Amino acid sequence: MPPPIRHFINLPDIPPETLKGILAHAHEMKRSKFRPPQIFDGLSLAMVFDKRSTRTRMSFEVAMKQLGGHTIVMNAEEMQITGSESLEDTAKVLSRFVDGAMFRISSHEKIEEIARHATIPIINGLTDRSHPCQIMADLMTIEEKLGSVQGRKIVWLGDYNNVAMTFAQAAPVWDFELVVSCPADLKPEATAAHVVYIEDASKAAAGADVIVTDTWVSMGQEGKSIEKFMPYQVNPTLMKKAKNDAIFMHCMPIHRNEEVTDDVLATSASVIYDEAENRLHAQKAILAWCLEESGVSVQKSFGF
Ligand code: CP
Ligand code: NVA
Repeated sequence: MPPPIRHFINLPDIPPETLKGILAHAHEMKRSKFRPPQIFDGLSLAMVFDKRSTRTRMSFEVAMKQLGGHTIVMNAEEMQITGSESLEDTAKVLSRFVDGAMFRISSHEKIEEIARHATIPIINGLTDRSHPCQIMADLMTIEEKLGSVQGRKIVWLGDYNNVAMTFAQAAPVWDFELVVSCPADLKPEATAAHVVYIEDASKAAAGADVIVTDTWVSMGQEGKSIEKFMPYQVNPTLMKKAKNDAIFMHCMPIHRNEEVTDDVLATSASVIYDEAENRLHAQKAILAWCLEESGVSVQKSFGF
């Protein structure tokens, strides 16, 4: 029996020790950034987008190219997938051309359907439900800044969205507490292990190691009212509730002076650009794990 295809779509589908191994490898990739090992020599990654992107697109492209691989980027609107071609045929044809494919596709069900028919690894570059590559970079950043993720209090404020839901999936794996503070109508339905809901933003932020937020209007939700999110704005008053050495994180793009104020972004607590840079190092480690069956040699010491 051939080994299972290594899709990177849902964090809970990947064994915790493997996820931790990928994260350790991401740090290693950052350390070797000036002498990047050419482990993707001869390999190609396709990237398909049905939404905008700056960080995800650039970090995957640079990750593949720095390590000797190739990329092909397609706008979903320009593909037959937007006409009458099925996801099944798209997945099967892509599998004959490239060694892996990343999809930024609105529907989570659709990326799962693509993965069911693909014979190459499929990577989730953001769906309406999750953003696992972002969370790997975020955890890497927390480890860099605070030494470890385990036991930390991470407070998510604002919209309980795709990024927040992926943080919730990571909490039991890395053993941190995720406090979600958002309007009551968005409260997580069933709070998972390690996830608590506190409606009041000030109470939620008390003693936090990490304050994290995201846009109140995710792509595809344009026109929605943001008034109910105002009590969840990250501003200096809210940051004062957190620990003195707390960090502020945001996956970007930021809507300045909506979910976070300029004066918070200007402080040394804000680690947003390191977080963005770490997308690159995390993508390399994610790709290395996904593509190992295609001949990529990775350091076994990382426990893959
Ligand atoms: N954080 C993130 O995924 O950014 P992009 O939308 O620019 O890819
Ligand atoms: N929640 C945001 C994340 C963008 C990277 C969105 O889905 O638009």
